[in-house]
Amino acid sequence: MKYMQLLELAKPYLAKNDLGAEHTLRVLDIAKKNYGKYDLDETWKDIVFSLVVLHDIGGPTVKEQYEKGPVIAKKLLEKLGYHSFDIKLICGFIQRHHERLNEPHEIFKILFDSDRLVMFSEEEFDHYNSRPNFDWNSVIDSFYHNDLKETAKKLITIKCHLNAQDKTPEIGNQKTSMN
Ligand SMILES: [Fe+2]
Repeated sequence: MKYMQLLELAKPYLAKNDLGAEHTLRVLDIAKKNYGKYDLDETWKDIVFSLVVLHDIGGPTVKEQYEKGPVIAKKLLEKLGYHSFDIKLICGFIQRHHERLNEPHEIFKILFDSDRLVMFSEEEFDHYNSRPNFDWNSVIDSFYHNDLKETAKKLITIKCHLNAQDKTPEIGNQKTSMN
């Protein structure tokens, strides 16, 4: 599959993003683990993983991802001899990948869901949670696939539970010093 070669070409670009190339690798991992849940046969695998590799190729901001992303993606895909139909498909989704499209192709759904589920990961949760009034519920509502939505709900419940536990020792210490 060509997506592995694509990943090597993409890494220098991805390294400049806020969460680095590691973010892309995490999204790729989620997409691989959940591939079988989507209505896609094996022939789509390389296209899906290539789309995942390239989704944030444009830079750290949405504007850069939408404007520069498809241009860089096209260049890399052409270099590796991808079919022009696939290049158009991939580039078209790169420039809209933050939007929740109405009934899109399954290859978009798997990218979108994986790119959302990664926000609940150990490595990325605080990055979003530290933003004032970050709306986790709207992220949960936006999933296409119910299984990934349920996984996200479980992860947020665990996070809330752990946060509550984190506060316990602090309260305990205060009690001790008061006594
Ligand atoms: Fe992403």
